[in-house]
Amino acid sequence: MIGTGYVGLVTGACLADLGHTVVCVDRDSEKIDALSAGRVPVYEAGLEALATKHLESGDLSFTTDIQEAVSKSQFVFITVDTPPDETGRADITRVEEVARSIAGSINDYKVIINKSTVPIGSTKMVQRIIEESMEEYREYDVVSNPEFLREGTAVSDFMDPSRIVIGSDSQKAVMLLTELYRGLDAPLFVTDPVSAEMIKYASNAFLATKVTYINAIANLCEAVGADVREVALGMGYDERIGFEFLKPGPGFGGSCFPKDCRALLAISRDHGYDFDLLEGVLEVNREQHERTVAKVERLSGGLKGRKVGVLGLAFKANTDDVRESPAVRVTKMLMERGAHVTAFDPRAMDNARPELPGAGFAESAYEAVEDADVLVLLTEWDEFKWLDYERVRGLMARPLIVDARNCLDPVVLRKLGFTYEGVGR
Ligand SMILES: NC(=O)c1ccc[n+]([C@@H]2O[C@H](COP(=O)([O-])OP(=O)(O)OC[C@H]3O[C@@H](n4cnc5c(N)ncnc54)[C@H](O)[C@@H]3O)[C@@H](O)[C@H]2O)c1
Repeated sequence: MIGTGYVGLVTGACLADLGHTVVCVDRDSEKIDALSAGRVPVYEAGLEALATKHLESGDLSFTTDIQEAVSKSQFVFITVDTPPDETGRADITRVEEVARSIAGSINDYKVIINKSTVPIGSTKMVQRIIEESMEEYREYDVVSNPEFLREGTAVSDFMDPSRIVIGSDSQKAVMLLTELYRGLDAPLFVTDPVSAEMIKYASNAFLATKVTYINAIANLCEAVGADVREVALGMGYDERIGFEFLKPGPGFGGSCFPKDCRALLAISRDHGYDFDLLEGVLEVNREQHERTVAKVERLSGGLKGRKVGVLGLAFKANTDDVRESPAVRVTKMLMERGAHVTAFDPRAMDNARPELPGAGFAESAYEAVEDADVLVLLTEWDEFKWLDYERVRGLMARPLIVDARNCLDPVVLRKLGFTYEGVGR
């Protein structure tokens, strides 16, 4: 596994659990030292237990030595990050680096599997780099195998995937990879590499569009007096629509949706197609952050000098990831408009701190709302649903709540004396 981040570590630990011997490589030696000592640097349900179990059994190990790891392996997964460059395109320098490093260590037939989300044509590109960098020809295949796991439920998503997509022109590689994944009960969809690469972007952009659509409907619900939760339920019964991804909020974020939408837009532009729909999705998403801030501003009668208690900084619940987190974005905007923010998140504070200079960080949700003029709930952590809101009411300077995730019960809160605003209700 080359690249031991969210995807690499989850894939590595899960493949070890399926009975394989896995070595995870990373160039970050601190991360490798921590993992080798049994410390998992990210928060993901079930991951620490799985990684520790297989570290102890010897099925899972960690190293910075890519050459040794590759030469001893039959399958080589590329799971490095592909962050956006300044044009929105996926920066594939790390994938290229890895391809060059792999080339020198191919000593017998290997299947090289690209799991990173990469621009269309990258499977071919990796193949070309390996071919050019190899000193002596050895047989190998490069396969596209996009990853669909979601942070927060990554281990169970890996173990129980909706589908496994394999993009390859080599029957041998497909057979071997099918064998590797034996034990996972999921439809195996085999296609050409370009289509496999496209499936990943098309899926993420579709989901981002679905979230944006329900956000737009929520905004309209506010205007007409409908309740978006009722509307989403009523829509979801239609099997063509489904219940998933119809929860409005402060806009989508995270390490994948925004970057993959921008990358797909760039791909479209490069191929002369105006993907206006997707352009609109990104624009409406930006507006959604803005609408959340405007709601807080309106409810509290201006933000200058206001004390705001922010609950939640992770881009969604059950993760410590704050990459492109709408919660962090909204918090930043609140501070830019003069608010004094004290924030709390059960898992993401360490990652959020460098992003939010000037913010205060509390030890608990209760501490975050002490003397606050307004409470803003930005990430849907379960523990925020079960706070003692009577106590919260007593701690706050003014009883105002903006629930940007529709987590709380407006009836109960209004009875307690709060002025409550959710999204689209
Ligand atoms: N995070 C997700 O939920 C998710 C889901 C599906 C797909 N993806 C895609 O998977 C890829 C990896 O994402 P991630 O979130 O795991 O990234 P990450 O940033 O968490 O991890 C990437 C790791 O690769 C390492 N790395 C970078 N260059 C290296 C090199 N040359 N040699 C060895 N190690 C190197 C980094 O040090 C880092 O530890 C991305 O393309 C992403 O778009 C991510």
